[in-house]
This record gives sequence, C-alpha cells and structure tokens, in this order.
Amino acid sequence: MSTIKDIEARKILDSRGVETVEVRISTDSGIIVTDSVPSGTSTGSMEAVVVAPEVAINNVNDIIKPKLVGLNPAEQGKIDQIMLELDGTPDKSKLGANAILGVSLAVSRAAAAAAKMPLYRYLNSLFNLVSGLDIKPAIPTPMMVMIEGGKHASEGQNCIQEFLCITSLENGGKIWNRLKRNLTRENLGVTLGLEGGFTPKLEYDEDALRLIMEAINEEGLVINENVKLGLDIAGNHCQMSHDDVLSMAERYPIYSLEDPFAENEWQTWGQLKNSLDQLHREYLLIGDDLFTTNLQRFEKGADNFDANGIIIKVNQVGTLTETLTVIAKAVKSNFTHVVSHRSGETMDTYISDLAVATASKFLKSGAPFATERVIKYNRLREIAQELGKNT
Ligand code: PGA
Ligand code: ZN
Repeated sequence: MSTIKDIEARKILDSRGVETVEVRISTDSGIIVTDSVPSGTSTGSMEAVVVAPEVAINNVNDIIKPKLVGLNPAEQGKIDQIMLELDGTPDKSKLGANAILGVSLAVSRAAAAAAKMPLYRYLNSLFNLVSGLDIKPAIPTPMMVMIEGGKHASEGQNCIQEFLCITSLENGGKIWNRLKRNLTRENLGVTLGLEGGFTPKLEYDEDALRLIMEAINEEGLVINENVKLGLDIAGNHCQMSHDDVLSMAERYPIYSLEDPFAENEWQTWGQLKNSLDQLHREYLLIGDDLFTTNLQRFEKGADNFDANGIIIKVNQVGTLTETLTVIAKAVKSNFTHVVSHRSGETMDTYISDLAVATASKFLKSGAPFATERVIKYNRLREIAQELGKNT
C-alpha cells in the first residue's frame, strides 16, 4: 500500500495568461504526480466557487495537506469527502473549488501510478465502482471548435460562442487549415479566440456555418457522413428565441446544440426539445451552464426531459467523486455526456483519460490548434494505440 507523503500547491499560468493552481503529490513509495486546474470565461452561475490562486494554494498547503498525509490515495471517495467536510459550504467557497479539484485529480493520478495502471484504466475501474455499471473504456470523437465568438472573441464579433466540427482529428486539422486559407483569401482575418478557433468579423452568425460547410466540402468531406456540425450558443451571453434556434436547426444540418438558452430558461429548453423531436432526425441538445456538472441541476433537467446531453467539466463541480457521480447518473438516464475542457487550459491531459474511462462519446477540447488543446486530442491517440483502436 502506498500513502500520501506530501502535497504541494503552486501557481502556474493558464492559456489565457491568468494564474491558476497546480498540485503535486508525492507518496512514500516515490511516486510524484501533478495535475492542474482549468478555468472558464463564459461560466454558469451555479459553478463551484473559485478563490484567488494564492488563497487556494494556502488552503491546500495549510488546511488540506495536514488531513491527507498518511492516507492511501486509492481511497478517493474518503479523501474527497474529507475535503468537502473541511470546506463545509454547498459551493466550495471556503477552500475554493480550485484548491479542492487540484488535490482530487492528483490523488487519483497518484493512485493510478501506485496501482501501475494507466490513468484511464484506473479511472474506468473507479467509475464502475461508483456507478455500479460495467463500462468499457472507449475512445471519444473530438468535438473541435472552428470559429469562435461571444466571450471567447473580442467585442463585436459573432454572438454564438462556438461553431464546431465533430470528426476525426485528421479531418478536423484539414478543415481548420482550409478555413484559414479561405478566411485569408476573403480578407476576413485569421485572429484566434481563446480555444484556437478563428474569430472573423461576420455580418451574420450564420455566415460562420456557411464558411465551415464550404471548407468541409472543399476537403472532400461529407456532412453527417464523416463530419457533424455543432454549435455552443452559450445562451447566458447570447440571447436567441426558441424560433430563432429552431429555424437555424431547420435550415442547417446541425447535429449538436449546446446551451441554446440561458441557464434558467428551463421551459424554453423543454419546448425546443419537443420541436427538435418533430424534425425526426438525430440531434444532441446539450446542457453546459444549464447543469454545471451539478447532480441536483442535472436531475431536474433529466426528469423533465429538457435536454439529452450534458457537458462534463471537472472544475464546475470540484471533486472527481462528484464528477463520476454525475456521469453515472447521465449514463443511467440515457444522456450523452461530453467531457470538456475550459477556455482557460493548462497542459494537463487529465480530461482525455476521464473521457475514455467513462466512454464519453465526444471530447470537447477546442480547435485542432494551440498546444494546450491539441495535447489532449493527441493523448486520445496515444490511448487508442494502447487499446488497439483508431481515433
Ligand atoms: P468557458 O466556456 O470554458 O469559457 O466557460 C466553454 C463553454 O461554454 O463550453
Ligand atoms: Zn458551453
């Protein structure tokens, strides 16, 4: 048995040049692991609370560490529970979700190393234990942003936050590069948003769809055969009516729709879901800010059939155990879960292993560009090779 010898938190910069937390755990058997905490720009109001990085670091070093040293990192449930009790608030505002999450993730990585298992395999057994399910690891399809707007771009750009292509990494790379050539040719500019997608100034949001469809076509790819289209409207910040969204879904072959409305417009979500059902085609209506990886909020939406998909972001909830519990509930409710990065990312590839471990159908990790995004897709390839499958 391995035990936790030391826990040390420190500040690092995320992909936006903003400070975040990295946690390093060492065990008595000589294992040393680190994990870091991502953070969002277009957040939901029900997310667990992030405290200032220096406060989070002091909380890890002075409050959390003394309680965890000497424990077996394989006791994830117990360790997460200790941190929840030390915090004692419903939204983790005392210690900070950034303090708790950094430790929670690094504990599992230490346990995987102690068990001499790749992280995805260890997380898979933990997930099956927490859920009572028998899920096999599976490689998700990348859900890659091509064009960005809203809070991920500068003022005055598209209202819709993300225009996505769901396809292989290879196809995604081709579409992104084709788009770059086309945007240059049309003098629309090739500046990038926070997640590596382009942020052209367009007259209408729908022009972004047109540009992406053109690039797909020019690459000899076929929509709904080898590429699917997705939108993250981020409805907390971009207001569209039910009829606006439905009309777009009718006129374009859009497969996935994330946060079409704000987080408290439950009724409009339900209404849209009914309307999409009547189109008699495959679709994914995904709650991100709507659910914020929060069990109570998810149960409310699942009971009312307000959506059929959920975004999973580890830092929205703040511990691994709670994340796995929400995913388990999603799987049991026949929801498609999509493990996702944040706009503020680090070089940590934890979410790739988590997606494989829970057989997430898709992994949302930004454009096929920008190292902190690509490293997560490449980690999928590495795992796929291990599993003897392709991405
Ligand atoms: P965020 O946004 O990471 O900036 O919060 C991502 C998303 O809305 O999916
Ligand atoms: Zn979103």
